[in-house]
Amino acid sequence: MQRGKRSASYETSPNIALVKYWGVRDPARALPYNSSLSVTLDRLRTRTRVEFSAELDRDTLTLNGRPAAPAATAAVSALLDRVRNAARTTDRARVVSRNNFPTASGLASSASGFAALAGAATAAAGLRFSPQRLSQLARFGSGSACRSIFGGFVEWRAGRRPDGRDCYARPLYPARHWPQLVDVVALVAGAPEKSVRSAVAMQATITTSPEYARRLRELPRRLAGIRRAIGRRDAEALFPLVMEECDSFRLVCETTRPSLDYLTAASREVLAAVRALNAEAGRPVAAYTHDAGAHVHVFTLEREARRVRERLRAIAGVERTLLLHAGAGGRRV
Ligand code: ADP
Ligand code: DP6
Repeated sequence: MQRGKRSASYETSPNIALVKYWGVRDPARALPYNSSLSVTLDRLRTRTRVEFSAELDRDTLTLNGRPAAPAATAAVSALLDRVRNAARTTDRARVVSRNNFPTASGLASSASGFAALAGAATAAAGLRFSPQRLSQLARFGSGSACRSIFGGFVEWRAGRRPDGRDCYARPLYPARHWPQLVDVVALVAGAPEKSVRSAVAMQATITTSPEYARRLRELPRRLAGIRRAIGRRDAEALFPLVMEECDSFRLVCETTRPSLDYLTAASREVLAAVRALNAEAGRPVAAYTHDAGAHVHVFTLEREARRVRERLRAIAGVERTLLLHAGAGGRRV
């Protein structure tokens, strides 16, 4: 890498998984047990600027205008070390990042944060990584970050190789493939901060949940069904599978010892409201899903969005709703 100061900025968005990543088969290489599939969201964005400088004696992270906590800075430093190794430099970096949505509240700021960091740091170091390689780097910060490099509908293939060369995310369809699909996010009040990192929680599931093996056996069929339904823009095929997958994820969490419960009473009311909407319509008009957090994403079609939104807003404990669509992938800015 050239001496002196080198900087670059990169912008990304978080993603919501329709098929969840939950379980690592090789922590050193960050290889998951199962493939996952997500939608990169519009409107929510992370913008990160990285500047390498020979004059710095340590990495610094300014997050949303404030010096970040030591643990957050250490996680950023660990990813920067991989970039430094690839660029053959020891220069430290000044990282300035901003999320235009709540950080660490269950909206996947870590996914967009580490995707943005990977994009900005490699560019600042003068590395020309392909999107696939960027995605392979980002997952060392946060597994789900590897999907936020791409826009639209994205699959992270678990691969089979022990060396991980066939493990990477790839775009399935761009955001414009299905503009009528909307994600009404129900932001619930009093969502607790995550007490255990997902990377740690999922390993507890593997060793203690009696349901995990069955989940892994079921997943290839469900993933294929979800991929096919997205390809055909078939909401009535997609929605039941998305809820089945969310229920499977919740079941393995609840049967983990000690139990992992990410939902609040209001989150559970959102799930019930979606089931009621579908029962009233006599067909699947919406689907709920949630990650390791209390906010619930409700997928529906544009023409139903108003009704769904009103129904969710009426639930006590739903603070507000966001109306999102599939959005763009990471880019230099
Ligand atoms: P979330 O649901 O928002 O991903 P997590 O608790 O899983 O919540 O992750 C939040 C953590 O991710 C933060 O505490 C911080 O360490 C990291 N993070 C979030 N945003 C950024 C960012 N823009 N740049 C670097 N790290 C970030
Ligand atoms: C439930 O990628 O957030 O959201 O490595 O701890 O950051 P860390 O794990 P992370 O785990 C994501 C779990 C999930 C499902 C998903 O996004 O696929």
